[in-house]
Amino acid sequence: MSSSITPLLHPETARQCPFAPPAPYTERREEQPLSRIVLWDGSTPWLATRFDDVRRILKDSRFSADTSRPGYPFRSAGLRALTEGRRNFGQMDDPEHGRLRGMLAGEFTLSRMERLRPEIQRIVDGFIDQLADRTPPADLVSEFALPIPSLVICRLLGAPYSDRAFFQKHSMTLLDRSRNEGEVANAESELSRFLSELVDQKSSDPQDDLLSRLVAEREATGQLTRAEIVGIARLLLVAGHETTANMIALSALALLTHPEQLAAVRNDPALVKGSVEELLRYLSVAQTGLSRVAVEDIEWGDETIRAGEGIVCMLNTANRDPRQFTSPDDLDVRRDARSHVAFGFGVHHCLGHPLARLELQVALETLLRRLPNLRLAVSPDELSYRYEMAVFGVRELPVAW
Ligand code: HEM
Repeated sequence: MSSSITPLLHPETARQCPFAPPAPYTERREEQPLSRIVLWDGSTPWLATRFDDVRRILKDSRFSADTSRPGYPFRSAGLRALTEGRRNFGQMDDPEHGRLRGMLAGEFTLSRMERLRPEIQRIVDGFIDQLADRTPPADLVSEFALPIPSLVICRLLGAPYSDRAFFQKHSMTLLDRSRNEGEVANAESELSRFLSELVDQKSSDPQDDLLSRLVAEREATGQLTRAEIVGIARLLLVAGHETTANMIALSALALLTHPEQLAAVRNDPALVKGSVEELLRYLSVAQTGLSRVAVEDIEWGDETIRAGEGIVCMLNTANRDPRQFTSPDDLDVRRDARSHVAFGFGVHHCLGHPLARLELQVALETLLRRLPNLRLAVSPDELSYRYEMAVFGVRELPVAW
């Protein structure tokens, strides 16, 4: 190990500010470009914290996302158990990754998403109506932030929303780094069983939904196996609701605790789109970063990354790198934050980003318009946060209006 710095501990030390990366990670970014981190299993992969390094690594095919390669840095025991023998395309390299991703690309285009806008607006209006009819306070996480992406992904896949408690519970377990291998494996097999039955139904009774189309157009032609379709369904279900749900709730909290920013967006709805980009940057909810493993020896600045060594790219410190963003610790809804890496970068860049962006824009615009007196119903220091989860967030957000 060439780094003279003591390796950093993972999982994160508690944050000083709930919105900012833990201070030791930020300090690391300012001290040196690459350093080392200690993972749960005692391994010491590299750590990249700067914007430029993170982007270059994620774009470089000498760094592999294939979890079956020796040295891949798993961020928890559960995650390692999850991928054994059952990799999804996010955990593969091209050309295998590109083959599977390519079959979904048409489902997530900007124009297809724009056609979904009225449906998403109806869904958001429905949950706001229910809130507005109630006597405050209410928990914005369980009453608004979580149900919206859950219902949207159910509609997209053609999954019954009535089963949400079941799949929300198991998805949470998959993303919880404090769960052991047995718990994660059990959640995975429960979800796969549920989705396998669902795909069987799509085969016998096709509807106008993504899973039915995959069965009819890809399985029937021999391009995808049934097991691959179930794997895709699981990836979309898990990736599609936890991330967006936490972004919606945490964005509301960030605005409510920055009154001048909140006022700016309220007074000028044209700022919503840009605010969503700034909130994605500022909050960077994928808090454990992205893992890769070097497939050959790579010279990186003053360091040599050896073939088989892992590297963890931190998105939250990259998104607050002063080399890329001026006053990066300020939430500024008027800044152009579009270059952020909250959705990753390179070939694995988030497939669902047009959907996530649309949901965030509609949810925030509607929330602020329909509940003009929205405010926290507790003091901010009474809130509890998801430090142990791969996706950061606030557990409950009591609000009044
Ligand atoms: C990949 C973040 C919403 C589906 C990713 C990656 C990030 C990310 C950082 C890159 C992973 C890597 O390079 O290893 C987010 C955030 C979201 C969000 C912050 C919400 C605010 C969604 C939604 C969907 C989705 C709504 C689908 C419905 C995917 C898929 C991948 C992915 C399928 C794997 C892409 C690939 O490996 O080619 N996401 N995501 N995500 N995301 Fe998202």
